[in-house]
Amino acid sequence: MSSSTEHPRVITCKAAVAWGAGEALVMEEVEVSPPHPMEIRIKVVCTSLCRSDVTAWQSQAHASIFPRIFGHEASGIVESVGQGVSEFEQGDHVLTLFTGECMSCRHCTSGKSNICQVLGLERRGVMHSDQGTRFSVKGRPIYHYCAVSSFSEYTVVHSGCAVKVSSVAPLEKICLLSCGVAAGLGAAWKVADIAGGSTVVIFGLGTVGLAVAQGAKLRGASRIVGVDTNPEKSEKAKVFGITDFINPHDYDEPIQQVVKRITDGGADYSFECIGDTRMITAALQSSCDGWGLAVTLGVPKVEPEVSAHYALFLTGRTLKGSLLGGWKPKSDLPLLVDMYLREEIQIDEFITHNLSFEEINKAFDLMKEGKCLRCVLHMPK
Ligand SMILES: NC(=O)c1ccc[n+]([C@@H]2O[C@H](COP(=O)([O-])OP(=O)(O)OC[C@H]3O[C@@H](n4cnc5c(N)ncnc54)[C@H](O)[C@@H]3O)[C@@H](O)[C@H]2O)c1
Ligand SMILES: [Zn+2]
Ligand SMILES: [Zn+2]
Repeated sequence: MSSSTEHPRVITCKAAVAWGAGEALVMEEVEVSPPHPMEIRIKVVCTSLCRSDVTAWQSQAHASIFPRIFGHEASGIVESVGQGVSEFEQGDHVLTLFTGECMSCRHCTSGKSNICQVLGLERRGVMHSDQGTRFSVKGRPIYHYCAVSSFSEYTVVHSGCAVKVSSVAPLEKICLLSCGVAAGLGAAWKVADIAGGSTVVIFGLGTVGLAVAQGAKLRGASRIVGVDTNPEKSEKAKVFGITDFINPHDYDEPIQQVVKRITDGGADYSFECIGDTRMITAALQSSCDGWGLAVTLGVPKVEPEVSAHYALFLTGRTLKGSLLGGWKPKSDLPLLVDMYLREEIQIDEFITHNLSFEEINKAFDLMKEGKCLRCVLHMPK
């Protein structure tokens, strides 16, 4: 279903609506409004499920932001453009951006940050420009997620929350660069700037942690220790460069002591890719005196505060946060797509499952049960 890009009309299509926190998604006929000024409407082609979707869907803290359409790791084709949009036209291939880039705010122009002040992470379930929604079911507004909401056949995003990519890149693969894989690679390359020959420890070997491993391996890290409580992660981890797999359940002592012992006093770089603030502390403790750098990527479900002994900092460690790997999405993500096309980075290996959009609840089950890395959901053609 499409409408002329000059006069776009409301589209009625299928979307997976979460009516309450943790409740199975329901396929609903939703109305998707035409794009407002500076917005675009996208026909979603593929969307994968990221842990952040599951965490937000389960969280009672966001109970008032339902009904809601989740999804933020997606690829698609521009269906229509709103007034004032010159950057995109109908038919462009795009990735959605859960943290956008306005190109003009203090952060966007700083050259130091990807935390846009205008189109940054949207937490209230609405669009940045007017705090409204673009979805409804029988006249009832449906909230957004990260101003992306890709669990819908069509979605509306701000033109700063999408990036045009090569039209020859397979959309069913590169959707992973819209969040998880880009987040991990950037944490290794841009945020930590891993040096060759160094030791790295990664807590959590989901897609994000394993993308950090891939980034560390490509930088020539000599030892990449992976920590995960799921023993099934051990085999897959080798594909991405993990040299030592550690399951904390196999030890009686705290995991940071194990890491310190096998790395001669701590790793050069440590990464928290779980979403558990206690593991941020463990990552910090697992990094070495003097120059140890702990990078935290996880989005915690509970206990948002981080606690750490001050002496960890006095002895020279740094703790750094990382959103979307520090990439400036408009300029940097197309380069990652091109690297994939040149076979310089792996994406396919992260895709453990392909399902049709209708099977979305199965994807949620797979992630909750720790059975997948990325499950790509394919929209009907
Ligand atoms: N900062 C960013 O830009 C960004 C981007 C995407 C995802 N995230 C966040 O990063 C985290 C990882 O995302 P993902 O999609 O790879 O998730 P995932 O669920 O696929 O992977 C998490 C891994 O951590 C392991 N784990 C859980 N508890 C553990 C523990 N106590 N000790 C060791 N291992 C443990 C799990 O077995 C799993 O393999 C999530 O919190 C997600 O919300 C952040
Ligand atoms: Zn994500
Ligand atoms: Zn900005």
